[in-house]
Amino acid sequence: MSKTPEKQKGDPETTGHSWDGIEEFNNPLPRWWLWTLYATIFWAVAYTIAYPAWPMISKATAGVLGYSTRGEVAKDIAAVDARNAGINEQLASTPLTEISADPNLQTYAQNAGGAVFRTWCAQCHGSGAAGAKGYPNLLDDDWLWGGDIEAIHETISYGIRNETNPDARYSEMPAFGRDELLENAQIEQVVNYVMSLSGTPQDASLVAEGEVVFMDNCAACHAEDGTGDRLQGAPNLADAIWLYGGDYDALMETVNNARFGVMPEWQDRLSEAQIRAVTSYVHGLGGGEATPE
Ligand code: HEC
Ligand code: HEC
Repeated sequence: MSKTPEKQKGDPETTGHSWDGIEEFNNPLPRWWLWTLYATIFWAVAYTIAYPAWPMISKATAGVLGYSTRGEVAKDIAAVDARNAGINEQLASTPLTEISADPNLQTYAQNAGGAVFRTWCAQCHGSGAAGAKGYPNLLDDDWLWGGDIEAIHETISYGIRNETNPDARYSEMPAFGRDELLENAQIEQVVNYVMSLSGTPQDASLVAEGEVVFMDNCAACHAEDGTGDRLQGAPNLADAIWLYGGDYDALMETVNNARFGVMPEWQDRLSEAQIRAVTSYVHGLGGGEATPE
């Protein structure tokens, strides 16, 4: 045990705590430190009054300044909209075929259209627009309904086989098997004929009879040479590009039950400027065609 040294006159005041002879001085806190502490306390209280802070049962106190991050975002969006109002109006009123002639408008349409595509179209057509089974690839020049800018605009505005818009593109391939329009043997024949059109290995002994079935039942929509008909959205069957698959099983399924692919209309959800922007974007992906004179 050590002994607490005797107190001398003039020694600083201590708290009375002593550890092995080491004593604790009772010095006051520095003024500047204390005032800083008070200032932070005042700041914290004032802040929680001014801004949303205290959690309540369903939401937090609103704060007297009426600030909200949501309001901040709405303000930012409104500011961007206001900034783009002029060019959006220009986009909505310029004839579709003349958009690309104005570099400023074209650049804007491409960028805005890319954003629309990633938000509204990518779920079905893929973020890179390469499509998937049942959802067409928009990068190539193989179009079901048409690849000039006006045809694309029409497809996007009204949709395909959707019931909500009477202007939607519409056609219906019959379900030849399910509705007993053809016998199973005839379906096998025509499927092998269809495979022969694209050079897919097939049972050659069925092709001649399949051609007869095709001319009687399919050529009205898919054309005599099988290259399809855009007026009816009937795919080209003579190339190697398939919407639903070109192997025997997929073709049997298509001819037996038909497919009926549906795309929603966008006129009711997007502004005309947004539709034109995404039209221009899709047209510019690689397969866009010139508008016929
Ligand atoms: C719910 C899924 C879905 C969404 C979302 C969707 N599409 Fe489609 N789209 C389809 C289907 C299915 C088809 C093919 C329909 C058919 O068989 O004719 C199609 C066809 C198209 C075609 C016609 C292609 C051709 O070859 O003629 C274009 C162009 C197109 N979509 C653009 C868009 C754009 C742009 C958007 C976003 C604004 C979009 N799609 C959103 C499902 C969708
Ligand atoms: C009334 C017009 C019509 C007739 C008749 C018709 N089709 Fe189709 N066919 C279509 C349409 C439209 C599609 C697009 C698929 C959809 O509904 O989404 C299609 C799609 C197909 C496909 C899918 C192609 C792909 O890329 O995956 C095949 C295969 C096909 N038809 C074969 C036939 C055969 C074989 C016959 C005759 C037995 C026939 N079709 C008769 C309109 C028709």
